[in-house]
Amino acid sequence: MKIFLDTANLESIRKFNDMGLLDGITTNPSLMSKEGGNPKDAMKEITKIIKGDVSLEVVSTEYSGMMEEGKRLREYGNNVVVKVPMTPDGLKACKSLSSEGIPVNVTLIFSSNQALLAAKSGAKYISPFIGRLDDIGQDGMSLIKEIKEIFSHYDFGTQILVASIRHPLHVIDAAKIGADVVTLPPAVLDKMLEHPLTKIGLDNFLADWSKLTSGNADIKI
Ligand code: G3P
Repeated sequence: MKIFLDTANLESIRKFNDMGLLDGITTNPSLMSKEGGNPKDAMKEITKIIKGDVSLEVVSTEYSGMMEEGKRLREYGNNVVVKVPMTPDGLKACKSLSSEGIPVNVTLIFSSNQALLAAKSGAKYISPFIGRLDDIGQDGMSLIKEIKEIFSHYDFGTQILVASIRHPLHVIDAAKIGADVVTLPPAVLDKMLEHPLTKIGLDNFLADWSKLTSGNADIKI
């Protein structure tokens, strides 16, 4: 399963990329807005830091605007994936951009039928938002299971990118289902790194080492 970071925060992107954890990045206008500054500069910088796919989202809602923006975004880097919303114009843009060799991520997917149609339009990725379904009392992860089952019968070549992830258990469940990609907020990736027994174990190792070597400043590894 690939891990993408769901953020436009350059510091977090560099931090986790330096650990070798990131296969890609997803952004959206809300994440760009959270960081402030010039979004164009940030988007260009992200495509330079990350070798893998970087999803950058259009803000036009009609076909021709999406096509123009999609092509401009793609000029930021050849790892750019154009993110379009799950609307009729979005699917039309998905089909056209994909036919021109520009990969597309169809976002704001909330049903298996939407996932099926986005795959038919040629999407490289579909992004079901599981946390937002959980928020309204539906089971987001069931949607991933259902999409996975549907896609297993066909050869769309479309990857399931699980988005709107809220906690580490979502990641384990997505991995058990065999989702292609999870996109994680930095805080979730931080939580996945930690375990209280790891910290206790390390503290004990260091205390024992210091007992062993106390008074012997010459002993160095
Ligand atoms: O990638 C989509 C994601 O950013 C949406 O997450 O937490 O705003 O539902 P959230």
